[in-house]
Amino acid sequence: MVASTASGEREGWSSRSAFILAAVGAAVGLGNVWRFPTLAGENGGGAFVLFYVACVFLLGLPLVISEIFLGRTGQDDAVGSIRKVAEKSGVSKRWSAFGIMGVIAAFLIVSFYSVVAGWVLYYAGVMGADFISAVLAGDPFRGALMGESQDAIQGRMGDLFANPVLLLSMHLAFMGVTLFIVARGIGSGIEAAATILMPMFFVLLIAITIYGAFVGDMGDALAFLFTPDWSKLTPQVMNTALGQALFSLSLGVAGLITYGSYIKGSSGLGPTSITIAFADTGVALLSGLMIFPIVFAVGLDPAAGPTLVFQTLPFAFQTMPAGALIGFLFFVLILVAAVTSSISLLEVPTAWGIGEMGWSRRKSSLVFGGGAFLIGIACLLGYNLWSDVRLLSFWPLFAELDILDTIDGFTGKVMLPLGAFFTAIFVGWKADRKLVEQMTGISGFWLAVWRFSIAWLCPLAVGTILITGLFPGILGD
Ligand code: PFF
Repeated sequence: MVASTASGEREGWSSRSAFILAAVGAAVGLGNVWRFPTLAGENGGGAFVLFYVACVFLLGLPLVISEIFLGRTGQDDAVGSIRKVAEKSGVSKRWSAFGIMGVIAAFLIVSFYSVVAGWVLYYAGVMGADFISAVLAGDPFRGALMGESQDAIQGRMGDLFANPVLLLSMHLAFMGVTLFIVARGIGSGIEAAATILMPMFFVLLIAITIYGAFVGDMGDALAFLFTPDWSKLTPQVMNTALGQALFSLSLGVAGLITYGSYIKGSSGLGPTSITIAFADTGVALLSGLMIFPIVFAVGLDPAAGPTLVFQTLPFAFQTMPAGALIGFLFFVLILVAAVTSSISLLEVPTAWGIGEMGWSRRKSSLVFGGGAFLIGIACLLGYNLWSDVRLLSFWPLFAELDILDTIDGFTGKVMLPLGAFFTAIFVGWKADRKLVEQMTGISGFWLAVWRFSIAWLCPLAVGTILITGLFPGILGD
């Protein structure tokens, strides 16, 4: 069944550039601004970064084209779209099962994504209040959190995690905004949000990067991010880079199938997909160039891990000119990126509810937004009241992880690569070749290159991530 508006027409983007903006908004998120710098820092910089970029263009880009092709051809929710392409290609409709897995994965990811975005919201609030007090004190260009020791600043994160009510309020606020936008639909919800938030994001990103170049240590940051030490490129590091490329491009969870299904009219998928891949990678690299000059200028550790952004940077902002203002803007920037991604995640199950269950958009977004909110509560309780809970204690890989890390690990290491693997096999081997050529608008040499990647490179590489991700022991270490 195809969902339709009151006028009987299925919803759609108003233009090609609206689609690109929304898809870039989906791709650019916590994965770029928080996870990419964290991973680049932890994995030694240059070699990881260069290998990551290779993964994006050799494997990620062909998958982006494939997902958009499925949605655009099917013009239905993720499961319905795959089913329609299967029908048109004369193969079993059971292939749509991997769409169901994508819908479940997106639903699970948005539940913990909102919790992490809640931390960002908390820090935006802390830094915002600090900036206001700087303005009131007549010193708007002072550093952030003056008078707070490094220990006190770092202790804020522990205090936040120990406070379930605070975590819950932040999660509720973020999920509420996500749900509100998705419930409004494609045009006046998702497209409108992307049209306002993405330009804002880019202005902030460029402004803070320029600031970092002036007050920070850009030379060290450039050397760290782009001078490869190939001895650091272990199989584990390659595996992490490949997984991050999938996550960052929003692949494997039917996000781009769903967004692609709202494309009306024709446009070549090659240039559109290249724009998305370039924008996403550019933002990841720029985020590194925004964060590391500041980290190095203050002599902090680039390999701090997931707390880099939350504990290391606020301390750095203390010593920098206008640190209170820039620190506040920095967390607003991450928040903006997180919103445009979380709406794309919630849209995947919402579109499924509309298309497969025949629900109204309002009902479907409420069911899945509400459900994800509840799972998110379990995630945040995993930091305090339920800190002993181990969801997958029987599975050595996940046995030690708290609730949020278990859901993150299971979706990232199992569901997402599986989704990407089946997408590659289905589009590379099963989908009708004429249909593919006609609907992607790609032909000749580039069609051959794309086909080779999607039929051979992607299944092999993604299959390898899956196996090495699940059985890390086989890589040695
Ligand atoms: N690409 C997003 C990020 O980098 O934060 C995460 C994401 C969004 C994954 C949407 C999947 C998705 F469908």
